Amino acid sequence: MTDAETPVPVNPLPADLKVDEVVVLDFGGQYSQLIARRVRECGVFSELLPHHVGPEEVARRKPKGIILSGGPASVYSPDAPPLDPRLLELGVPVLGICYGMQLLAKELGGRVESAEVGEYGRSQLTVTEHGTLLKGQPDDQPAWMSHRDTVFTPPTGAVALASSTSSPVAAFESVERGIYGIQYHPEVVHTPYGQQTLQTFLRDVCHCSLDWSAANIADEQIRLIREQVGDGKVICGLSGGVDSSVAALLVHQAVGDQLTCVYVDHGLMRKNETEQVEKTFGEHFKVPLVVVDAKQRFLERLRGLTEPEAKRKAIGNEFIRIFEEEALKLAVGGGTEVEGAETKTFGDVHADEPAPEGAKFLVQGTLYSDVIESGGGTGAATIKSHHNVGGLPDDMTFALVEPLRALFKDEVRAVGTEIGLPERMVWRQPFPGPGLGIRIVGGEITQEKLDTLRECDAILQEEIRAAGLYRDLWQSFCVLPDVRTVGVQGDKRTYGYVVAIRAVTSDDAMTADWARLPYELLDKVAGRMVGEVREVNRVVLDITSKPPGTIEWE
Ligand code: XMP
Repeated sequence: MTDAETPVPVNPLPADLKVDEVVVLDFGGQYSQLIARRVRECGVFSELLPHHVGPEEVARRKPKGIILSGGPASVYSPDAPPLDPRLLELGVPVLGICYGMQLLAKELGGRVESAEVGEYGRSQLTVTEHGTLLKGQPDDQPAWMSHRDTVFTPPTGAVALASSTSSPVAAFESVERGIYGIQYHPEVVHTPYGQQTLQTFLRDVCHCSLDWSAANIADEQIRLIREQVGDGKVICGLSGGVDSSVAALLVHQAVGDQLTCVYVDHGLMRKNETEQVEKTFGEHFKVPLVVVDAKQRFLERLRGLTEPEAKRKAIGNEFIRIFEEEALKLAVGGGTEVEGAETKTFGDVHADEPAPEGAKFLVQGTLYSDVIESGGGTGAATIKSHHNVGGLPDDMTFALVEPLRALFKDEVRAVGTEIGLPERMVWRQPFPGPGLGIRIVGGEITQEKLDTLRECDAILQEEIRAAGLYRDLWQSFCVLPDVRTVGVQGDKRTYGYVVAIRAVTSDDAMTADWARLPYELLDKVAGRMVGEVREVNRVVLDITSKPPGTIEWE
């Protein structure tokens, strides 16, 4: 996709919502998303937009400042992403980081050249003039760099504030012209005064009020959902994970029983997960909830399948079909029974009556990182149903309700806490859609194996929580290979299952390291598994990082 074809994200916040915003323009840097997150951590709403969106699009946000991100290009390369000079005429301060700084220097009369030696990683910054941007910071400080091009002379009228080993000008500012530049990356943890620099820029240069937080816009989101939905009916597929849970609760707080949630229990869930969803949503929050017990149907569908992708496909397709059947009932009223599945309803569910007004809206837990990664999309999209929940009549359209579109994952957790979602759900580790189905490996999925795996998994989670490590781990779970080994228990020979423990730390699941769980914890977990779960007589630990391994075994 060329730059021009990349869709421009729609502002995820309503135009009439009065919050200070700073726009981060993405020039392709590795840490651009992180800059937007750090700005939000300072208390200022921030959007990441592709660098080419143009000044009109930026101006529409009425930003109080603009940040130009880093990027891999050299400002002198013929295909280097350029800086539109009209951005500098919007009357708001501009902070360039790394490539962004070099662009400012080149555009405004400074001198940028390729240095003899690049600077990659930890570097030492010497502050020669604190100015506004580096006010209150030490003269010498570590800073994270990643560049070869270097600013040798700051833009006309700007003052050089700092230098580093290979950067004669590692920071500059011109208060008069409203331009600021830093060669280093303030957004990474290896730059200890980076967050302070960003905060100074936001507070003292852009005069932002630093009072934005995801949690305190929950009320606004609720107002927006009300406006969008009116008195229409809404459907939400609940998975038990944090995103769909928070999205559903927000919508329920906005429009009450106009929302019906559908939870499909495919029997591949963790222990007590279905009960927890029923208890939290059906009983506690009193959200109209349809729980579809499709355990047998899935088991039958999975019979004989061992190949990972075949299992994934079978589970995914079956899931969509069941969800559609339920959604259809709710959307048009009446409808056919879901074959081979039993439904249990909580609250005021009107699926059996012909509904003159069917559900028009579908809730999705889309996050801001999804919005960025998919290149934007249009928030107001009315999608053809078959693009989303295939199989519904072609002329049936759902409008999407996406109350988390503006939020990063950690912000979704903050909102979840704010609106009263139990801690256990807010902090739940990620769990794959195909669930335990891709953790029974090498053999057929059976009820016995599912029960064995579920019990072992529950023991692991319980002990990890008791040791206070649950939130430190990206994921922790068990895997059940189709292997039996010989053991001796109670003076008798056994021939039981091997269970593998997989626990990893990670920031984003793209890479992961195996977690160094304490020996005492591992010992306790293994002892409990072989003691309490009859079919298990051996426990092993997976010590592979990603890459070369993946987090899941399949
Ligand atoms: P891998 O195993 O590829 O997993 O390192 C990375 C992250 O993705 C999750 N995962 C899945 N999630 N459907 C999902 O919804 C899937 O089929 C699936 N496979 C892996 C995995 O749990 C980890 O967080």
